[in-house]
Amino acid sequence: MHAVDFSSRLRVEPRQCYILGKGTGFGKVILFNEHFVVYGLPAIASAVGAKTTALVERHLGSGVEIIDNRPETKGYKAEKLAQQKESLDLMLKFMNIDTRNQAYTVTLAGDLIAASGVGASAASCAAIARAFSDELGLNYSDDRVNEVAYEGEKGYHGTPSGIDNTAATFGGLIWYKREGTSQIMERMKLSRPVDIVMGNTGIVADTKVVVAGVRERKEREPERYAEIFKNADRLARDARRQLEMFSLEEVGNSMDQNHELLQQIEVSSPELDMLVDLARNNGALGAKMTGAGKGGYIVALTPGRDLQERVAHAIEKKGFQAMRTSIGV
Ligand code: PMV
Repeated sequence: MHAVDFSSRLRVEPRQCYILGKGTGFGKVILFNEHFVVYGLPAIASAVGAKTTALVERHLGSGVEIIDNRPETKGYKAEKLAQQKESLDLMLKFMNIDTRNQAYTVTLAGDLIAASGVGASAASCAAIARAFSDELGLNYSDDRVNEVAYEGEKGYHGTPSGIDNTAATFGGLIWYKREGTSQIMERMKLSRPVDIVMGNTGIVADTKVVVAGVRERKEREPERYAEIFKNADRLARDARRQLEMFSLEEVGNSMDQNHELLQQIEVSSPELDMLVDLARNNGALGAKMTGAGKGGYIVALTPGRDLQERVAHAIEKKGFQAMRTSIGV
């Protein structure tokens, strides 16, 4: 046996820290037309109450490290580690931030659970863009933050539609559509906020893989998919009218129909279908999977605290996490 010399490992480099940049990004829920939105169809999304926060510190040295203190669905952060790194590199490059002569630490936190389907990646991208802008005095407008977050989303989604980063950056209830390379976002108004419940399957899905699967099947069965896409287009337009007229029964019905279309393009899963049925059986006006699917969350329309509590409780009784929040705030 020989003694081990720990002295070199114990040497602590002085960490000279300058200012601290801060930023936030909203979690989101897609109410209508995830996936279809990738192909230019309209979609409707809303920010939810929970947020991700980012802090950026500058140090002497080089490189960038992320400390991820967000609450998570078990396994999410480990599963997304490589994509998170790729996303950060894309954003730093886009913002022209050189890490060769300056070191940065990015710390993520907040009350948004890092999970599939709640826009966790987009919320973190918007928060990081804002924190770097704050730290380096870049004075980014919301539009610029959104552009940077879109770049970051490419690390997670491959070909993002842009709806997640737009909802994460601007908040509120939005109508979103891609036209070629440009993106149309219109703010929508609800006469008052509406309670919803989001139920978490606890399954971490890979958005890139699920989106690629839709593309593959769409190319294989163009006629069948064209019909489904036509229905999805009409549904989002109807749903916009129903939301703006505050016809919640009809909105719920449209959510049910949207879930069926998502089942038809094979992005739902038995766990998502089970939670959707559970929410409906407990009085939700409508329910659907939300986000990429194959795991992640469902969203149920549950106006009124009693109904919201009943649905959330039923989900929790089955051993799943439920988030009580609202849209149109
Ligand atoms: O699972 P999420 O929250 O990342 O949502 C993905 C939404 C998709 O429509 C499936 C992809 C996209 O880029 O719009």
